[in-house]
Amino acid sequence: MQPILSIQNLSIEYRARRGRVRAIRNVSFDVQRGEAVALIGESGSGKTTLGLGIVQLLPGTARVTQGRAIYRRSRDGAPSEIDTLQLKGRALREFRWKECAMVFQSALNALNPVLRISDQFADTAQAHGYLQGRALHARAEELLKLVRLDPDRVWRSFPHELSGGMRQRVLIALSLLLEPQLLILDEPTTALDILTQRNIMDVLKDLRHKLDFSLLFISHDLALAAELTDRVATVYAGKIVELASVETTFKEPAHPYTIGLINAVPTLKGTKEDLSSIPGSPPDLVEMPAGCKFHPRCPLVESRCKEEEPELVEVKPGHQTACWNWRSAREALQTHKVQG
Ligand SMILES: Nc1ncnc2c1ncn2[C@@H]1O[C@H](COP(=O)(O)OP(=O)(O)OP(=O)(O)O)[C@@H](O)[C@H]1O
Ligand SMILES: [Mg+2]
Repeated sequence: MQPILSIQNLSIEYRARRGRVRAIRNVSFDVQRGEAVALIGESGSGKTTLGLGIVQLLPGTARVTQGRAIYRRSRDGAPSEIDTLQLKGRALREFRWKECAMVFQSALNALNPVLRISDQFADTAQAHGYLQGRALHARAEELLKLVRLDPDRVWRSFPHELSGGMRQRVLIALSLLLEPQLLILDEPTTALDILTQRNIMDVLKDLRHKLDFSLLFISHDLALAAELTDRVATVYAGKIVELASVETTFKEPAHPYTIGLINAVPTLKGTKEDLSSIPGSPPDLVEMPAGCKFHPRCPLVESRCKEEEPELVEVKPGHQTACWNWRSAREALQTHKVQG
């Protein structure tokens, strides 16, 4: 079966006073139908930019400089392909809710403060010629239950009457209203306390089980991503530097950056001393270093790394990495392994 989404050689820049911010650089990957893919990476690596690009919600200062985002529609008759970056007007509006829905980072204020939850559902449904009245209520009730909210309590409430975790669950339910085939969740739990975060993760796992949508899950937290997704794309300085199944990512990571991220994941038994974080900070995306963008922080840096940027290559079937030294990186992992 063909992937539901194929990102092909996508590059996105922002025009800033300081120059061009190269936020996404020649990124390609697929999301299979029913699959959940995580985009992980540090703050500023370009994750949100990629999500916004797919649904054409980038700010005016951003520009897609190359590439395509091919979405394969499977409903209503013959399958068809669309490049989401080329959609306009009505086709774009339909794509955004009916095919692909995005829950934004810091979405807690995304609900209209003067509308009851019932009206937020009604507005969205009406704008897309979807169910109304009792049928809409029934559908919303079903979705609210799926995200473990009490529909009777929530339906007539205003957003400010709900906690952050409840609002986030309302947003997730609302995003599913038009039965999108692809859901993009951008850091859906980041603004929440740890128990609420746990609760939302359980809701999301449950939803994946019960509904069949494909998922692009954006997070800086590798451990959370591993819970929910099938494959992980590790993003560094606007580029995918490693792409592998969750299992391979944890057991046999090949990129020094991914290895650093894994070593930074605290284990249950681990003490604080086990937490080795990656020294240094991500590069300035306006003036990036030559060669591999990770080389100033890389323990395995060699002269080649400072001159030539490695492209993604296959380490084994289904596992790609962009590192000149991935073989020695693996050995290094064995010696630095977190004691679990
Ligand atoms: N409107 C903008 N104008 C200029 N530069 C921007 C703009 N939005 C984002 N950037 C820059 O683009 C880069 C990628 O930002 P983006 O928000 O996509 O990263 P992110 O991986 O989502 O980070 P975070 O984990 O903090 O959400 C960053 O260097 C950021 O400073
Ligand atoms: Mg972001």
